Amino acid sequence: MVDSAQLRSVLSQWPSGVAIVTTVTADLDGSPRPHGMTASSFSSVSLDPPLVSVCLGNHLPTRTMIAASGVFALSFLGKDQAEIGRRFAGQVPGLTDRFAGADWVTGPTGCPMLAHATGRLDCTVEHAYPGGDHTIFVGRVREAAVDRVTAPLLFHSRSWGQLADPLPDEITITVLDGAEGIGAEVSVRDPGDLASVRELAATVPVRAYVADAFAPDREAVVLATLDALAGLPEVALGCAEDAAASPLQVRRVLQDAVVRVRPAALHVRLRAHHGLGLVNALVAMKSGVRRFDAVRDPASGGLPADDLLLLARQLGVACAEPA
Ligand SMILES: Cc1cc2nc3c(=O)[nH]c(=O)nc-3n(C[C@H](O)[C@H](O)[C@H](O)COP(=O)(O)O)c2cc1C
Repeated sequence: MVDSAQLRSVLSQWPSGVAIVTTVTADLDGSPRPHGMTASSFSSVSLDPPLVSVCLGNHLPTRTMIAASGVFALSFLGKDQAEIGRRFAGQVPGLTDRFAGADWVTGPTGCPMLAHATGRLDCTVEHAYPGGDHTIFVGRVREAAVDRVTAPLLFHSRSWGQLADPLPDEITITVLDGAEGIGAEVSVRDPGDLASVRELAATVPVRAYVADAFAPDREAVVLATLDALAGLPEVALGCAEDAAASPLQVRRVLQDAVVRVRPAALHVRLRAHHGLGLVNALVAMKSGVRRFDAVRDPASGGLPADDLLLLARQLGVACAEPA
């Protein structure tokens, strides 16, 4: 006989993503009554037909309501949505409305789904299998959407977390001052600046940098500009630091930017402000950046290529001597 505390503690070692499962039933007066809970037992089941599953405790109101309504939806949570995960897991004392404070959209089944989820699936119940003290709901996906590409929220060892940031195996340093053959360079501030990039890219290879990419109030516009640039073929994409950047802001922007421009590689150009240049370079590497643009002459204020090379060597990150 397996001890239940021991089983729980072993299961807590299994890391998972986090979803909000929602459903909707009718109130006595016929008005829709939404309900939802946090669940990590989500699994994809089949592509054709499109099926997914989730296991819900038999004693839970959500389970009873899905059995009655025949519909459920899943909203996958991003790294910054642990608070929503807590609310829907009943971990916020005194909370009366789990849905308050977030934006919701309604799917074709009538289920509410988180407007800023990383992924959404709206389903009708295809099967409900007994699974011990849980019910295994298999849903047929009626609508699927990705609203926001960002790093996921994780749950492990009874704690909320994010993906660990491994150092890269390798980085490339391009020295900008004096470099030949890297094409024309354009600085863009927002998606409205794209015409000039398009025009230039028709004649020469272009490196387009989003200017002042790590200013605290520019995060949304920087990401929108990268999204727009990523649609242009043959344009190398970059983020440039202008105002002195905090390592926290560098991380916030690059973590999302790197994912959004994939499969393209993002170039980053940092400055050497007050000795923070190498800190920001380390943060950028851990956020997934593999292409660094640097300078030979430190007087320009840019991050010196030699310092970056030394950092890479100290960290055991492979890097060829820049040309
Ligand atoms: C990260 C996380 C994942 C969870 N996953 C599940 C799950 O997959 N199935 C389940 O039955 N309960 C799960 N729970 C517990 C429910 O979220 C919790 O019991 C919730 O309050 C149920 O809501 P309800 O009582 O309104 O139905 C999870 C809790 C957390 C914090």
